[in-house]
Amino acid sequence: MPEKGTEEIRQEITGGLLAPSMHIPSKYFYNREGSRLFKEITGLEEYYLSRTEKAILADNLPVLARSSRFGCVAELGNGDCSKISLLFGSMTAEKLEDINYVPVDISVSAIDGSVKVLQERFRELRIEGVVADFMTQLQLIPVSDHPALFCFFGSTLGNFEPFQRREFFHNLGASMQKGDMLLLGVDMVKDVGITENAYNDRQGVTAAFNKNILNSVNYFLHSDFDTKKFRHLAFYSEKFERIEMHLKALQDMEITSPFFDTPVFIKKGETIHTENSYKFRKEEFSDLSGDAGLALDETWSDRNSWFSVFRFRKK
Ligand code: AVJ
Repeated sequence: MPEKGTEEIRQEITGGLLAPSMHIPSKYFYNREGSRLFKEITGLEEYYLSRTEKAILADNLPVLARSSRFGCVAELGNGDCSKISLLFGSMTAEKLEDINYVPVDISVSAIDGSVKVLQERFRELRIEGVVADFMTQLQLIPVSDHPALFCFFGSTLGNFEPFQRREFFHNLGASMQKGDMLLLGVDMVKDVGITENAYNDRQGVTAAFNKNILNSVNYFLHSDFDTKKFRHLAFYSEKFERIEMHLKALQDMEITSPFFDTPVFIKKGETIHTENSYKFRKEEFSDLSGDAGLALDETWSDRNSWFSVFRFRKK
């Protein structure tokens, strides 16, 4: 969970619920149950993203590991060490000794968990977790003599709005040194049916994940949202090239919280917007990276081009 001041969190959530188009920021999905459900999603038949990215990384990281030396490997918004393990697993002990692995996450618990597992497997690695918002606090990542490798996997970039994407690239570019690399894993624009299926699994895990954000809101606002009074909605917007997730009210209701001045009324059929998950085209990254002083020098994809990992180098 985001470990900012609770007051700030309450204001942010309340602001979204009182806005003309009701919304809840998608980072609030990830309470304990939400993180568990997301993990379950990554194993679903319909959710091709995680296994496709992992296969791409398994095909390409060993070569990168053997042909480069890194002083620092920073993983932004980590969580799942199985991906970065594909890199470290192809390195000699001697190479690992040079590396400072820096998982960066806004949640302490996400970092603690991955540090333990990884340190046991790769004893030579120096691990230095940073609790930071990787949107604004990239300068907290330590610098070293050998080039640094920044990893941003899992299509987390898809949760950023276009203006945030630009800001993120700009900040990252500014904190990279000449020769540093970025590996960026993103979900690509593809057949609408395949994309929508990934967010409408038959077992209803994604539905449970979506509804659980209300439990997370209840925790912060001491409010009384009832998940049973909402239906999961996920659809692709051709216009924005993104999956949108919403929660649709099945009846009229009144939500109360000690932090509201008056109850929030929700009418049957009204929706709460809970997530945008943008899909990408390769062309977008030439603009984005150019502005940030980065050059796109490799593209790795699966054979259907459903998912891509782009490699950029700081000029
Ligand atoms: C973690 C943001 C990449 O957008 O696919 C999965 C989150 N939402 N199912 C995604 C998510 C619904 C996921 N990301």
